[in-house]
Amino acid sequence: MIKKTPPSIIALDGPAASGKSTLGRTLADTLGYLFFDTGVMYRAVTWIALQHDLNLSDEAVITELAQKAQIDIQPPSKNDGRACDVIIGGKDVTWDMRNDEVDANVSVVSAYAGVRQALSEQQRRIGLRGRVVMVGRDIGTVVLPEADLKVYLDASAEERAKRRFDEIIARGDPADYEEILRKVIERDRIDSTRAVAPLRPADDAVIIDSDKMNAEQVVARVMELCK
Ligand code: CDP
Repeated sequence: MIKKTPPSIIALDGPAASGKSTLGRTLADTLGYLFFDTGVMYRAVTWIALQHDLNLSDEAVITELAQKAQIDIQPPSKNDGRACDVIIGGKDVTWDMRNDEVDANVSVVSAYAGVRQALSEQQRRIGLRGRVVMVGRDIGTVVLPEADLKVYLDASAEERAKRRFDEIIARGDPADYEEILRKVIERDRIDSTRAVAPLRPADDAVIIDSDKMNAEQVVARVMELCK
Protein backbone atom coordinates (compact mmCIF):
# COMPACT_ATOMS: atom_id res chain seq x y z
CA MET A 1 0.00 0.00 0.00
CA ILE A 2 1.28 3.46 -0.81
CA LYS A 3 1.52 5.54 2.33
CA LYS A 4 0.64 9.16 1.62
CA THR A 5 2.63 11.83 3.43
CA PRO A 6 0.79 14.93 4.66
CA PRO A 7 1.32 18.19 2.72
CA SER A 8 4.67 19.72 3.68
CA ILE A 9 3.80 23.40 3.19
CA ILE A 10 0.42 24.43 4.59
CA ALA A 11 -0.80 27.97 3.94
CA LEU A 12 -3.52 29.29 6.18
CA ASP A 13 -5.09 32.65 5.32
CA GLY A 14 -8.17 34.56 6.37
CA PRO A 15 -9.53 37.75 7.92
CA ALA A 16 -8.85 39.05 11.45
CA ALA A 17 -9.76 36.74 14.31
CA SER A 18 -11.05 33.95 12.09
CA GLY A 19 -9.30 31.35 14.26
CA LYS A 20 -6.25 30.87 12.03
CA SER A 21 -3.76 30.91 14.89
CA THR A 22 -5.62 28.34 16.98
CA LEU A 23 -6.05 26.09 13.96
CA GLY A 24 -2.47 26.61 12.80
CA ARG A 25 -0.98 25.82 16.18
CA THR A 26 -2.98 22.64 16.59
CA LEU A 27 -2.15 21.47 13.08
CA ALA A 28 1.54 22.20 13.54
CA ASP A 29 1.59 20.38 16.90
CA THR A 30 -0.24 17.38 15.47
CA LEU A 31 1.99 17.10 12.41
CA GLY A 32 5.23 18.04 14.23
CA TYR A 33 5.64 21.09 11.94
CA LEU A 34 6.85 24.62 12.56
CA PHE A 35 4.04 27.09 13.28
CA PHE A 36 4.73 30.50 11.79
CA ASP A 37 2.27 33.34 12.42
CA THR A 38 3.33 36.04 9.95
CA GLY A 39 1.00 38.64 11.52
CA VAL A 40 3.51 38.82 14.37
CA MET A 41 6.05 40.43 12.03
CA TYR A 42 3.69 43.17 10.83
CA ARG A 43 2.64 43.79 14.41
CA ALA A 44 6.27 43.98 15.56
CA VAL A 45 7.17 46.62 12.96
CA THR A 46 4.07 48.62 13.94
CA TRP A 47 4.92 48.32 17.63
CA ILE A 48 8.49 49.56 17.12
CA ALA A 49 7.27 52.49 14.98
CA LEU A 50 4.82 53.51 17.71
CA GLN A 51 7.47 53.15 20.43
CA HIS A 52 9.82 55.47 18.55
CA ASP A 53 7.05 57.92 17.62
CA LEU A 54 7.78 57.44 13.93
CA ASN A 55 5.40 58.97 11.42
CA LEU A 56 3.26 56.01 10.32
CA SER A 57 2.22 57.89 7.17
CA ASP A 58 5.83 58.08 6.01
CA GLU A 59 6.21 55.01 3.83
CA ALA A 60 9.98 55.42 3.33
CA VAL A 61 10.67 55.62 7.07
CA ILE A 62 8.48 52.63 7.91
CA THR A 63 9.94 50.59 5.05
CA GLU A 64 13.46 51.26 6.29
CA LEU A 65 12.37 50.15 9.74
CA ALA A 66 10.95 46.88 8.35
CA GLN A 67 14.22 46.23 6.53
CA LYS A 68 16.34 46.78 9.65
CA ALA A 69 14.12 45.57 12.49
CA GLN A 70 15.56 42.76 14.59
CA ILE A 71 12.50 40.71 15.50
CA ASP A 72 13.36 37.61 17.44
CA ILE A 73 10.78 34.83 17.55
CA GLN A 74 11.44 32.06 20.06
CA PRO A 75 9.61 29.04 21.49
CA PRO A 76 7.07 30.04 24.20
CA SER A 77 8.66 30.65 27.61
CA LYS A 78 5.29 30.94 29.39
CA ASN A 79 2.12 28.94 29.35
CA ASP A 80 -0.24 31.93 28.99
CA GLY A 81 -1.81 31.19 25.63
CA ARG A 82 1.09 32.50 23.53
CA ALA A 83 2.30 30.52 20.51
CA CYS A 84 5.80 31.98 20.68
CA ASP A 85 7.82 34.67 22.43
CA VAL A 86 8.38 37.82 20.42
CA ILE A 87 11.50 39.61 21.62
CA ILE A 88 12.50 43.09 20.46
CA GLY A 89 15.61 44.74 21.87
CA GLY A 90 15.78 42.09 24.60
CA LYS A 91 12.20 42.86 25.77
CA ASP A 92 9.35 40.35 25.67
CA VAL A 93 6.65 42.19 23.67
CA THR A 94 4.44 39.17 22.90
CA TRP A 95 1.28 40.67 24.41
CA ASP A 96 2.19 44.37 24.00
CA MET A 97 2.00 43.82 20.26
CA ARG A 98 -1.65 42.88 20.58
CA ASN A 99 -2.66 46.19 22.17
CA ASP A 100 -5.33 48.53 20.72
CA GLU A 101 -2.84 50.96 19.29
CA VAL A 102 -1.08 48.26 17.25
CA ASP A 103 -4.47 46.84 16.18
CA ALA A 104 -5.52 50.28 14.96
CA ASN A 105 -2.34 50.93 12.95
CA VAL A 106 -1.05 47.57 11.72
CA SER A 107 -3.13 47.54 8.53
CA VAL A 108 -1.70 50.88 7.42
CA VAL A 109 1.85 49.62 7.97
CA SER A 110 1.20 46.28 6.27
CA ALA A 111 -0.20 47.97 3.16
CA TYR A 112 3.21 49.46 2.28
CA ALA A 113 4.85 47.60 -0.62
CA GLY A 114 8.37 47.93 0.79
CA VAL A 115 7.31 46.61 4.19
CA ARG A 116 5.62 43.62 2.55
CA GLN A 117 8.65 42.89 0.39
CA ALA A 118 11.06 42.97 3.34
CA LEU A 119 8.91 40.73 5.54
CA SER A 120 7.56 38.32 2.95
CA GLU A 121 11.07 37.53 1.67
CA GLN A 122 11.98 36.30 5.14
CA GLN A 123 8.70 34.38 5.44
CA ARG A 124 9.24 32.69 2.08
CA ARG A 125 12.80 31.65 2.93
CA ILE A 126 11.59 29.94 6.10
CA GLY A 127 8.48 28.45 4.47
CA LEU A 128 10.40 26.82 1.63
CA ARG A 129 12.21 24.60 4.14
CA GLY A 130 8.91 22.73 4.41
CA ARG A 131 7.15 21.02 7.31
CA VAL A 132 5.56 24.34 8.12
CA VAL A 133 2.11 25.77 8.82
CA MET A 134 2.27 29.43 7.83
CA VAL A 135 -0.56 31.74 8.81
CA GLY A 136 -1.41 35.18 7.40
CA ARG A 137 -3.32 37.05 4.69
CA ASP A 138 -1.27 36.40 1.54
CA ILE A 139 0.53 33.10 2.18
CA GLY A 140 -1.33 31.10 -0.46
CA THR A 141 -1.41 33.95 -2.98
CA VAL A 142 2.03 35.61 -2.67
CA VAL A 143 4.41 34.23 -0.03
CA LEU A 144 4.13 30.51 -0.83
CA PRO A 145 1.97 30.05 -3.94
CA GLU A 146 3.45 26.56 -4.30
CA ALA A 147 2.02 25.46 -0.91
CA ASP A 148 0.77 21.86 -0.95
CA LEU A 149 -2.39 22.75 0.92
CA LYS A 150 -4.09 26.15 1.07
CA VAL A 151 -6.90 26.86 3.48
CA TYR A 152 -8.85 30.11 3.68
CA LEU A 153 -10.58 30.29 7.04
CA ASP A 154 -13.57 32.59 7.06
CA ALA A 155 -16.36 33.56 9.50
CA SER A 156 -18.80 36.45 9.79
CA ALA A 157 -17.48 39.66 11.33
CA GLU A 158 -19.91 39.25 14.25
CA GLU A 159 -18.67 35.74 15.05
CA ARG A 160 -15.04 36.81 14.78
CA ALA A 161 -15.59 39.83 17.03
CA LYS A 162 -17.28 37.56 19.57
CA ARG A 163 -14.30 35.19 19.56
CA ARG A 164 -11.84 38.06 20.01
CA PHE A 165 -14.05 39.44 22.82
CA ASP A 166 -14.07 36.05 24.62
CA GLU A 167 -10.29 35.77 24.22
CA ILE A 168 -9.67 39.17 25.86
CA ILE A 169 -12.11 38.48 28.70
CA ALA A 170 -10.45 35.09 29.29
CA ARG A 171 -7.12 36.92 29.71
CA GLY A 172 -8.79 39.01 32.42
CA ASP A 173 -8.76 42.27 30.43
CA PRO A 174 -11.75 44.57 29.83
CA ALA A 175 -13.42 44.41 26.40
CA ASP A 176 -16.22 46.15 24.50
CA TYR A 177 -17.88 43.93 21.86
CA GLU A 178 -19.21 46.75 19.63
CA GLU A 179 -15.81 48.43 19.60
CA ILE A 180 -14.05 45.17 18.70
CA LEU A 181 -16.55 44.54 15.90
CA ARG A 182 -16.00 47.99 14.43
CA LYS A 183 -12.22 47.54 14.50
CA VAL A 184 -12.32 44.06 12.99
CA ILE A 185 -14.45 45.35 10.09
CA GLU A 186 -12.13 48.31 9.53
CA ARG A 187 -8.96 46.16 9.55
CA ASP A 188 -10.52 43.72 7.06
CA ARG A 189 -11.54 46.61 4.82
CA ILE A 190 -7.97 47.95 4.66
CA ASP A 191 -6.41 44.47 4.34
CA SER A 192 -8.68 43.41 1.47
CA THR A 193 -8.59 46.65 -0.54
CA ARG A 194 -4.85 47.37 -0.45
CA ALA A 195 -2.97 47.39 -3.78
CA VAL A 196 -0.26 44.90 -2.79
CA ALA A 197 -1.10 41.34 -1.69
CA PRO A 198 -4.67 42.02 -0.58
CA LEU A 199 -6.50 39.57 1.61
CA ARG A 200 -8.27 37.09 -0.66
CA PRO A 201 -8.46 33.31 -1.08
CA ALA A 202 -6.03 31.78 -3.60
CA ASP A 203 -7.83 30.23 -6.58
CA ASP A 204 -6.85 26.77 -5.35
CA ALA A 205 -7.61 27.36 -1.65
CA VAL A 206 -10.19 25.35 0.24
CA ILE A 207 -12.55 27.86 1.81
CA ILE A 208 -13.89 26.93 5.24
CA ASP A 209 -16.69 28.98 6.74
CA SER A 210 -16.29 28.39 10.48
CA ASP A 211 -19.36 30.33 11.65
CA LYS A 212 -21.16 27.21 12.85
CA MET A 213 -18.08 25.14 13.64
CA ASN A 214 -16.11 24.93 16.85
CA ALA A 215 -12.31 24.80 16.95
CA GLU A 216 -12.22 20.98 17.08
CA GLN A 217 -14.48 20.65 14.04
CA VAL A 218 -12.31 23.02 12.03
CA VAL A 219 -9.16 21.07 12.96
CA ALA A 220 -10.87 17.77 12.05
CA ARG A 221 -11.91 19.16 8.66
CA VAL A 222 -8.38 20.34 7.83
CA MET A 223 -6.81 17.09 9.09
CA GLU A 224 -9.14 15.33 6.62
CA LEU A 225 -7.71 17.51 3.85
CA CYS A 226 -4.17 16.57 4.96
CA LYS A 227 -4.83 12.88 4.42
O1 CDP B 1 -4.59 37.80 14.83
P1 CDP B 1 -5.32 38.70 13.88
O2 CDP B 1 -6.12 37.93 12.88
O3 CDP B 1 -6.11 39.78 14.55
O4 CDP B 1 -4.25 39.52 13.05
P2 CDP B 1 -2.77 39.12 12.68
O5 CDP B 1 -2.77 37.83 11.94
O6 CDP B 1 -1.91 39.25 13.87
O7 CDP B 1 -2.38 40.23 11.61
C1 CDP B 1 -2.32 41.60 11.95
C2 CDP B 1 -2.30 42.42 10.67
O8 CDP B 1 -1.09 42.17 9.96
C3 CDP B 1 -3.40 42.14 9.67
O9 CDP B 1 -4.59 42.86 9.93
C4 CDP B 1 -2.77 42.57 8.35
O10 CDP B 1 -2.86 43.95 8.16
C5 CDP B 1 -1.30 42.24 8.56
N1 CDP B 1 -0.87 40.98 7.93
C6 CDP B 1 -0.65 41.00 6.57
O11 CDP B 1 -0.85 42.01 5.91
N2 CDP B 1 -0.15 39.88 5.96
C7 CDP B 1 0.08 38.77 6.63
N3 CDP B 1 0.59 37.71 5.98
C8 CDP B 1 -0.20 38.71 8.02
C9 CDP B 1 -0.69 39.84 8.64
